[in-house]
Amino acid sequence: AITRRADYTPPDWLVPDLALDFDLAPERTRVRAALSVARNGAHDRPLRLDGDGLTPLAVRVDGAEARWRMDGAALVIDLPGETHVVETEVQIVPERNTQLMGLYHSGGNLCTQCEAEGFRRITFFPDRPDVLTRYRVKMTADKARYPVLLANGDPVASGDGEGGRHWAEWHDPFPKPCYLFALVAGDLAANRATFTTASGRTVQLGIWVREKDLPKTDHALHALKLSMAWDERVYGREYDLDVFNIVAVDDFNFGAMENKGLNIFNSRYILADPDTATDYDYDAVAAVVAHEYFHNWSGNRVTCRDWFQLSLKEGFTVYRDQQFSADQGSAAVKRIEDVRGLRAAQFPEDGGPLAHPVRPDEYLEISNFYTATIYNKGAEVIRMMATILGPQKFRAATDLYFDRFDGTAATCEDFVACMEEAGGVDLTQFRLWYSQAGTPRVTATLDHQAGDGRAHLTLRQSVPPTPGQPDKAPMVLPLKLKLFGAETDTSLIEERLVLLEEAETRIAFEGVTERPVLSINRGFSAPVIVDTNRSAADLAFLSAQDDDPFARYEAMQQLMLDTLVAAVTQGRADHAPVIEAVANTLSDPALDPAFVAEAVLLPSDSFIGDQLALVDPETIFQKREALRRELGRALEDQWRSLYESVRANRFEYSPAGKGARRIKSVALGYINASGASDGPDLAFAQFESADNMTDRQGALTTLANSPSDAANGQRVAALDIFYHRYSDNGLVLDKWFQTQALSTRADTLDAVQDLARHPDFTLANPNRARALIGAFAVNQRAFHAPDGRGYRFVADQLIALDKLNPQTAAKLVPPLGRWRRFEADRAAKMRAELERILAQPGLSKDMTEQVSKSLD
Ligand code: ARG
Ligand code: ZN
Repeated sequence: AITRRADYTPPDWLVPDLALDFDLAPERTRVRAALSVARNGAHDRPLRLDGDGLTPLAVRVDGAEARWRMDGAALVIDLPGETHVVETEVQIVPERNTQLMGLYHSGGNLCTQCEAEGFRRITFFPDRPDVLTRYRVKMTADKARYPVLLANGDPVASGDGEGGRHWAEWHDPFPKPCYLFALVAGDLAANRATFTTASGRTVQLGIWVREKDLPKTDHALHALKLSMAWDERVYGREYDLDVFNIVAVDDFNFGAMENKGLNIFNSRYILADPDTATDYDYDAVAAVVAHEYFHNWSGNRVTCRDWFQLSLKEGFTVYRDQQFSADQGSAAVKRIEDVRGLRAAQFPEDGGPLAHPVRPDEYLEISNFYTATIYNKGAEVIRMMATILGPQKFRAATDLYFDRFDGTAATCEDFVACMEEAGGVDLTQFRLWYSQAGTPRVTATLDHQAGDGRAHLTLRQSVPPTPGQPDKAPMVLPLKLKLFGAETDTSLIEERLVLLEEAETRIAFEGVTERPVLSINRGFSAPVIVDTNRSAADLAFLSAQDDDPFARYEAMQQLMLDTLVAAVTQGRADHAPVIEAVANTLSDPALDPAFVAEAVLLPSDSFIGDQLALVDPETIFQKREALRRELGRALEDQWRSLYESVRANRFEYSPAGKGARRIKSVALGYINASGASDGPDLAFAQFESADNMTDRQGALTTLANSPSDAANGQRVAALDIFYHRYSDNGLVLDKWFQTQALSTRADTLDAVQDLARHPDFTLANPNRARALIGAFAVNQRAFHAPDGRGYRFVADQLIALDKLNPQTAAKLVPPLGRWRRFEADRAAKMRAELERILAQPGLSKDMTEQVSKSLD
């Protein structure tokens, strides 16, 4: 059944208190729940408790056997009074829980995942985020097997029981929705520290992992302390319990979960050491630790009224973690990475069959709405409000929001109203960002009359139709722009913020005494696509002169994109402007190497495809490779001297160290792209001598992508050495699978089909499934092999995965849903696979929603 935002009604019954009693074992766990319930308002409706796969073993009301009935999976009880105590008992089997929602088994430990609707797989309860409850949790388990027992809040009592069992009781004083419930029972060790909050509270921090992984937890612990201090300094938000625990598990459906006082993480976002984690992994660990920690306020203290408001906590928290990461190193590089991520994941979503607004109107399965739109576009929407208000007013507005809604379940509207009130602005039209899907397009045309010193900028916006939303109104687009003088290299018009509110606006500039060059959407101030009439020469000029690092990067990207699109659509293009611009960037001593590495990378195959009405994967690949080869050849001396300048660096995790490694891998890639005969040896030497995973994986990727037969020896040897060196480390094996699945070689499809039969491959572990199947499905060249074998392979895997873990399977549907962008033969083959999936008996709700929308 479809759930609609417009149908929201407050809960009939509240549950102020809940006592849970778990008798834990993987093969049979008994759950007793005692809910104190209170009628909410005057009505005579029964108490309805959500369940999923549960059978009540006993139901009591105020201590006596009670009459109850099942309505589908829900337990329904007629209650006469205003308040009652309702007790239920159920039995569940954690070791058979392959969906990884509810209580499940991972790596010998027991853990939970409840968001969004997993709590109903543990016990009968009103499973909706606007029912806030105080929890008291008792757990009993075998002491030898599960020496550590954790839950939300503070530990209050523990002791030994009979038959080698022991127990612990935890109490969480903060009322919370059930999606924030968590428990963990396991054989775990903690990396501990304390943090003293601004008001002097001492918090015990613990990061819990397998004993052997303890040495890999220092980075996460450090990031946690930085996050706690940052949220106090930047948002005035202090931590509120005496303990904060994080547990890492290997089997997890997504990144991590912000359960109150007991975050549970996918181990890939906790474990890091130089030998096994790349710089990218280190950054991701810190960002996710910060994200989940920040949820304590944006999500837990103030939660969501209903799941349509998901972006209230996710968009805001992503914005907060992006700001945090920007403060730790290069803000410019962080912004570039975030925008690249938005364009790679969210823009295609917004332009395809699964497009939905930041605040959706309906869903079949809420798990399908943990999307780049809710998270990343949602973060851009918060960022735009921060831009419109300015830093002081934005802080006043978030203070007001936290203050006013603390302890409640709020809406996106509540947040925007605080922005208006504290910011003194009218955001009526701005609210369209929450309701209209689709990426707005802006056309900017700059005209200059040399004689009178005037220039006119015409800005036109349009929002494309998306499923269910044929007609769109103009949005509020905050565009930062500036004009440079092409002759004098100076600023003609200082940066200004233009709020484009109409379908069309004309802006006049005076005193433009020379030909102006437009720098627009600086800092990516609005998440839109901008079309300009800027020439290759102007883009090259900006790539060398713009004082906004993002705009500078963007000019280079646009120049590359224009060149590649011309190459694909017209068969040929002039490479010279790109080569010259890259040469200038490489030789600019003022630039941060991390920025240079970003700027000189060509746009991805799929981003090039996104610019075209019909995607021709092979031509895109060939044209991009041709430009890479030419860049490699023409600038070979520069790549080599850059490479030499950082080749012998020792590992250090610092912005400078990271920048050097990034440029090193980029240079190695270009040297190999040039076809230089020593390229594979250079890569192999880097692979063998690396003192860190960034360099090792960078070299492995170069070899894994090498099309040349001459590199076969090095490629095969490196993959083999890598596999054996890390065969007992699941997270690194994921890299081994993923690197091969992303290979641009012509034989990748065959290799991936073999890898799916490798003894280390399993669909039961989401990280492993994503590393092979997820990565392959975004490998544009390999996935779209003209014979359709790539589609068939992915569909087969999704059908198998859906039987184990529908949520993870459904996340991998979008690549098949992009059939409209491919020529008729491929499109038909992609559709046929979607139809085949849809026809599977017993297909999950998750897959049914994603696949049927993709076919529409
Ligand atoms: N709230 C978690 C986070 O911090 C993610 C939960 C994802 N849940 C899901 N059903 N996909 O982002
Ligand atoms: Zn989140």
